Amino acid sequence: MINKGIILAGGTGTRMSPLTKAVNKQLLPIYDKPLIFYPISILMLSKIRDILIIVNKGQINQYRKLIQDGENLGIKITYQEQSKPRGLPEAFILGEKFIGNQNVAMILGDNFFYGQGLSENLKKCTKLKSGAKVLLHKVSNPESFGVAKVNKRNKILKIIEKPKKHVSNLAVTGLYFFDNNVIKYSKTLKPSKRGEIEIVDLLNIYKKKNKLTADYIGRGGAWLDTGSIEDYFKTFSFVHAIENRQGVKIACLEEIALSNKWIDKNQVRKQIKFYGNCSYSNYLKKIITPSA
Ligand code: DAU
Repeated sequence: MINKGIILAGGTGTRMSPLTKAVNKQLLPIYDKPLIFYPISILMLSKIRDILIIVNKGQINQYRKLIQDGENLGIKITYQEQSKPRGLPEAFILGEKFIGNQNVAMILGDNFFYGQGLSENLKKCTKLKSGAKVLLHKVSNPESFGVAKVNKRNKILKIIEKPKKHVSNLAVTGLYFFDNNVIKYSKTLKPSKRGEIEIVDLLNIYKKKNKLTADYIGRGGAWLDTGSIEDYFKTFSFVHAIENRQGVKIACLEEIALSNKWIDKNQVRKQIKFYGNCSYSNYLKKIITPSA
């Protein structure tokens, strides 16, 4: 069972400047809550309670102001700074102490997942004992992502980062599950031409050892990322549309914690006080009020 999860929430957010000049991207709103709530919710739905959030230098206090140390949500949050965006696998080098001798999940701070059966799929992924697992999703613009070349039996042959020539439509989403070797392997990676250590190189190490497996987010599921302002806006609109149509919130952390039985109604009341008078609090009031 994977009990530990890392959220990589640093980066410069250059493609979204000037929005990201003074505020880190993961603290910007996706409709009614900050972007960081969405990856936290994914780890919580995977029943992962021990979370390391990696942020840019000097930004821990901003995050702490919002989500504190997690006790209010029945989870444990540790923070660590990354002094420069040196690449995604640096998370496992910085997080070595946090990971200890366990297996670990990692989600990118700007990734959004939604869909029927997602929680069940996630819980299956956390059963990983050895090797690495990625989640693949069909997209119309594979050139913007890590892409998986697969054979007829859906076995991964290779992962290629942002391929210029068409390889497949299967993007590698920003949610990964690794065994403990990830620390050792990450340390062997050399920076690519763009000066970063690359997640695809790490995944291909597992592939070469025949230790890379994949699950799929099918057509009923949505995976969006918020790298560019267009994608950010699409994600924002998606959450707005679903929440208003259905009257339920996506990534309401207290609701997930309550249904996992990690907190009780009293704790939710404290959160309502903490957030103050807002629509998010009104929703929290609704979920702790028994319906007539
Ligand atoms: O979103 C999925 C894609 O994420 C994968 O398909 C790609 O294989 C993977 O390389 C990655 O591509 P991006 O171009 O989206 O990565 P980006 O550099 O935008 O970083 C993703 C998030 O991680 C973003 O929120 C910033 C954060 N980050 C990034 C780096 C490189 C850090 O916190 N530290 C870093 O060193």
